[in-house]
Amino acid sequence: MSRPKWIPEFDLDLSVSASGQLELAGCNLVALAKEFGTPLYVYDEAALRRRCQRYRQAFTSYEPGYEILYASKAFLPLAMAELIEQEGLGLDVMSGGELYTALKAGVSPDKIYFNGNNKSPVELAEAIDAGIRGIIVDNLLELERVSAIAKAKQVVQTVLLRINPGVEAHTHEYIKTAKLDSKFGFSLLDNSTIEAVRRVLIDQNLKLLGFHCHIGSQIFSLDSYRAAIDVMLQFAAEVRSQTGFVWKELNLGGGLGVRYVESDDPQPIESLAAQIIATVSTGCQKYSLPKPRLLLEPGRSIVGEAGLTLYTIGACKTIPGIRTYVAVDGGMTDNPRVALYQAKYSAVNASKANSVPDQVVSVAGKCCESGDMLIWDIALADPQPDDVLAVFSTGAYTYSMASNYNRLLRPAVVFCRDGRSKLVVRRQSYEDLLNCEFSLNEG
Ligand SMILES: Cc1ncc(COP(=O)(O)O)c(C=O)c1O
Repeated sequence: MSRPKWIPEFDLDLSVSASGQLELAGCNLVALAKEFGTPLYVYDEAALRRRCQRYRQAFTSYEPGYEILYASKAFLPLAMAELIEQEGLGLDVMSGGELYTALKAGVSPDKIYFNGNNKSPVELAEAIDAGIRGIIVDNLLELERVSAIAKAKQVVQTVLLRINPGVEAHTHEYIKTAKLDSKFGFSLLDNSTIEAVRRVLIDQNLKLLGFHCHIGSQIFSLDSYRAAIDVMLQFAAEVRSQTGFVWKELNLGGGLGVRYVESDDPQPIESLAAQIIATVSTGCQKYSLPKPRLLLEPGRSIVGEAGLTLYTIGACKTIPGIRTYVAVDGGMTDNPRVALYQAKYSAVNASKANSVPDQVVSVAGKCCESGDMLIWDIALADPQPDDVLAVFSTGAYTYSMASNYNRLLRPAVVFCRDGRSKLVVRRQSYEDLLNCEFSLNEG
């Protein structure tokens, strides 16, 4: 049976079984919850691959080429890194741990770029040893460190400089100059930015590829990208006039928004690509700059809508005249985004997916924090203990942000495809909790 109208339209294959249970990519979600336990992260593998392919397809016409670097921070178990490699994307990593995972998955170092505002000397050395394509240098200290490490190892490391274009992207608008106060990147208010370019150009162990910017996340307005590209073009023209350096690569970061609730209206990947290609092409003509190779770092827009989280409903408590709390067996440990950003989600009673959602309740987590809420005021169909709740669009920044607060176990991750499920991360065990710990009684 197809998707009932109260389930928002997400970019994944949802259906309902004859008995009224929710299915993803042909897998019965209530059965998966039983088999693997809850909370459980479940992904539509075909949806993940489709979005990778759409990103590549959308930029194929662009000369002189592009690389889509999936932003590892959104969700990077080994299987996801392998999927990215199979789909021909590269990776944006932010830490030694993400780099390690990427290399273990067989991602070519030539397709890896390293971001971050405070990479450690050890992480920088690991990246240089691995021979990654680009270190995205965030500040002068890091520039000195990369140079010194490359010199000691007698190699030439290719780098980009991260620039803060001063464009703050809001969901529906952008504010120029408002975001000059940021921990990330070289500021355009500061002369040290051109100074940094000069330093790279005279350094025997560094080779400058170009510039990077990232203006924010969950962006619905493509104008924000246009504004950022305009600033980057002006900067590139200024750099050329002051130093003679001409960019080879322009990295525009990630940020494209996704649907969490019905009212969200994200822009298609193809529209983002068309906007970027048009703005870069006309801007390069205007400034007589050669068109750079384009790099993008999408995270959420590849994995966000392709994943959902299953919970088992437990205690349901009605406070007369106030609200009904429906508690589930996870919460801020598997999805801290609500507590962190007041993120909004939609959900359905997966055990009764064909029934009209007519009871307004609030979904609470099980952690020892009043702020541990997953959804305020959502209509669900007769939520009862032991029903399975599916929370949609949890594919990004959930597994990767999960914690063991209250010594809760991190959930398993399952990929579904053509009616078959594959366990890609097993659920933690109590023994895992003690894995890195030593007893005071040990010698
Ligand atoms: C430098 C950088 N690139 C890419 C991303 C990915 O952003 P998104 O998941 O919104 O596409 C982020 C997210 O914070 C980021 O900081």
